[in-house]
Amino acid sequence: MKRVKVKVPTKVTLFGEHAVVYGFPAIASTIPVSINISGRLIDRPVIAIEIKQGFPITATTVIIDRDYVSVDLDQRRAKNLLGYILTAIDVCEQAMDIPKLSKGYSITVESSLPMGVGLGTSAAISAGVVSMCLLLNNGIAISNLEDQRYDIAKLAWNIERIVQGSASPMDTFTVTLGGLRFIEPLIPRATSIDIDYGIPIIIGYTDRRSSTAELIQKVRHLKDRSREIFDDILNTIGRIVNEAKKALIAQDFETLGLLMNINHSMLQALGAVSPEHDMLAHTLRRAGALGVKTSGAGGGGAFIVLAPNHETQTMLVRLVEAMGAKVVSDTLYHGGLEISVQDTN
Ligand code: MEV
Repeated sequence: MKRVKVKVPTKVTLFGEHAVVYGFPAIASTIPVSINISGRLIDRPVIAIEIKQGFPITATTVIIDRDYVSVDLDQRRAKNLLGYILTAIDVCEQAMDIPKLSKGYSITVESSLPMGVGLGTSAAISAGVVSMCLLLNNGIAISNLEDQRYDIAKLAWNIERIVQGSASPMDTFTVTLGGLRFIEPLIPRATSIDIDYGIPIIIGYTDRRSSTAELIQKVRHLKDRSREIFDDILNTIGRIVNEAKKALIAQDFETLGLLMNINHSMLQALGAVSPEHDMLAHTLRRAGALGVKTSGAGGGGAFIVLAPNHETQTMLVRLVEAMGAKVVSDTLYHGGLEISVQDTN
């Protein structure tokens, strides 16, 4: 019996969130905090899901008949998590022409990060479960994983679009391909940006009340109300992203920090910055941060801080924690999705 293990890094958006939904480029990177998914085929046509730590579900095993979902979970995020897993199985089976309800899966999902804070957990789950399913059904092989990363990323993107209603390829492409990426959503393509990964950055999060889907919807309403102003904001974000790519390559932290602060203001204009993030940005900049920015869909959740050097970075980490926010990482990550197979016979 084959057991597949998939380790998928989560991610942080450095520049260009929201505008990327409308076709503008963005910059995102994986971070060294992963979601672990393992799975095997089982005889009965059910999906048994075991959820370990980090997710807002205390009941650990959920058994779902393929033709009737009977779980009664009233937590929005818990429902969301199951939505991504079940859709990933459907998308994988459709891609492989596997007849519906003919297979059963036992899946374990483990994460140290909560879902829905803007760090790509749903993208990681989508990419992880779909590649697990593809490998269990011999739709991909570990030996040529490198050639199939884009195919996996596209399927994972599809899963996010089905569950969320709207999504750019940014999160799914970044977690699957790995490292710092320049995302061009209209192609779609996510090209690697070659940098020194020792950049003095802090990635953290605060509580978040709205979902990504709700925030995308909020921005869309704004666009419908003031189209010209909105288009100007999106164009400006697109220009910030192109300048930020150059500053990243040149390791020009001063310019990078400035661009982060301007991008943050653009997110403010889009109504995506929470009062807590306003306060964090103000305090951390006064304490020496070159740039502070809401990251991801916003409404609270993830944020990034750029320090001028590693000494100030250490001091700012303490300050972030003293302000009640969680620090997830003080570095970016070069890797993407990893798969291994165990024979359990
Ligand atoms: C996703 O982390 C952030 C948004 O740009 C949505 C998307 O790209 O799908 C708001």
